[in-house]
Amino acid sequence: MTTEDPLTAPGGSGSSVVPGERPWWTDAVFYQIYPRSYACAGSSQGVGDLRGIIDRLDHVVGLGVDAVWLSPVFCSPQVDHGYDVSDYYAIDPIFGTMADFDELLQAAHDRGLRVLLDMVPNHTSDQHAWFTAAVAAGRGARERDWYLFRDGRGADGAVPPTDVLGSFTQTPVWTRVTEPDGTPGQWYFHLFTAEQPDLNWLNPAVLAAFEQIWRFWLDKGVDGFRVDVADHLTKDVDRNDVRFGNDLLTHDADNRTHEVLRALRSTLRGYEHQPTAIGEIWSGGASYSSDDEFPQTFGFPILKAGWDAPALRAAIQEVLADTEPVWVIDNHDTPRSASRLGPARSRALTLLMLGLPGAACLYQGQELGLPNVDDLPDEVLADPVWQRSGGTDRGRDGCRVPLPWSGSQPPFGFCDDEVEPWLPQPPQFAGFTVESQRRDPTSTLELTRRWLGVRKQLVGAGFQWRDEAPDRVHFQRPTDTGTIDVLMNLGDTSIALPPGRILAHSDPKPPDGWLPPDAAVWWEV
Ligand code: BGC
Repeated sequence: MTTEDPLTAPGGSGSSVVPGERPWWTDAVFYQIYPRSYACAGSSQGVGDLRGIIDRLDHVVGLGVDAVWLSPVFCSPQVDHGYDVSDYYAIDPIFGTMADFDELLQAAHDRGLRVLLDMVPNHTSDQHAWFTAAVAAGRGARERDWYLFRDGRGADGAVPPTDVLGSFTQTPVWTRVTEPDGTPGQWYFHLFTAEQPDLNWLNPAVLAAFEQIWRFWLDKGVDGFRVDVADHLTKDVDRNDVRFGNDLLTHDADNRTHEVLRALRSTLRGYEHQPTAIGEIWSGGASYSSDDEFPQTFGFPILKAGWDAPALRAAIQEVLADTEPVWVIDNHDTPRSASRLGPARSRALTLLMLGLPGAACLYQGQELGLPNVDDLPDEVLADPVWQRSGGTDRGRDGCRVPLPWSGSQPPFGFCDDEVEPWLPQPPQFAGFTVESQRRDPTSTLELTRRWLGVRKQLVGAGFQWRDEAPDRVHFQRPTDTGTIDVLMNLGDTSIALPPGRILAHSDPKPPDGWLPPDAAVWWEV
């Protein structure tokens, strides 16, 4: 057994935090709710809603997580299912009312559960009043400066300002508007769909508007935000030397996004309830994660590392070195790990992730071992990626299929029997319902609940690598009362376990001295 240099667990860097005290979010487990697909109490369109979340809140509370993160519930034309916001101060009627939201927040807080909202600052909907005003105001108007308008190239301006392509579908990042006098006019920049125009974060008015939005929700008692596309806020859209919009970002010291994030971070300070903000940054999270920028960023490297011990160790090392991580292997943008890796490996990696220092995030359905639905019929696909790619990219609907709660056939308690869920659930979801798993102590749901209970012993524990063998990931968490070892077997043969008390195991059957392939275990010495 070899031991690397000890790497201490990352220290707290909170907002209104007593020096030396770790804020609540440092070791929290977040649970991502994708509201369209969690539970539907009233909608006749088979779309989940806030009342559905209230009705099923006990499921989350029973899991033992600390907080929920709701994917966007603001007013939105729903082109990108809420990631196109038309009013940051209102709840979309498809999800309910502000009174429903207030009730949800209260119900969650009454049960000791915190609530994070999904803030989308990179772009708005093209239906947002800021954008319609910008188009209506015409070329050169102050309102245009809220977005990224440019003149086109060529004598009549009919050629887009640059040849850069967007993130979703590799189509141009520019769309032309018609000016108030009816003539073809300027072009606006959008990293995603044309219905999601990017804001101009170099305009101080944009920052001031978002500071106000953040305060509005924080004053209500919201416990923080997951911040969408967090590293893309400022970019040089005039560059034409890159092929894709994502490459317009710079991670160097001149990146103005840092200034913006520092200002946004300061809006979190001064709130007694220690709100957090988690940056969605797929690579280079460390450069945005600090005492005065993001309190936390997602630990995406372990999601991307695949089933490979050296790659996973490197990913863990990279993230722990510089950030307050929120570890994650599943979300609403990625095929579910139960299908990506297979059910046993997904459970093992979830248990390993929960054993790491820092916070972690579970995506709804991960606690059920829910598979991705890869065979949705073309005609039901609703992700804008599908249509925008001309039917070449099937998009992300497969991980967004509504949850199965009970019963043996669709809609599995997700909505009323006479209503069709917005995406069809496959018959095999019958084997994954919450109801059936609750009765089975060996189910993924019951295992997850036990893992989350045991995890509480790790709060504040240290971290030390143990074994660097190519078939395993093995680390140790020294606690006040002893040590907890976390081991995952990526090889083809069982690994002999040293003596110790098994605290958690990913295989339904507890290991009897040997850890089988594709499994993980925690034991106490
Ligand atoms: C969200 C996606 C969304 C995109 C555009 C993201 O990274 O997670 O679901 O489509 O931002 O807002």
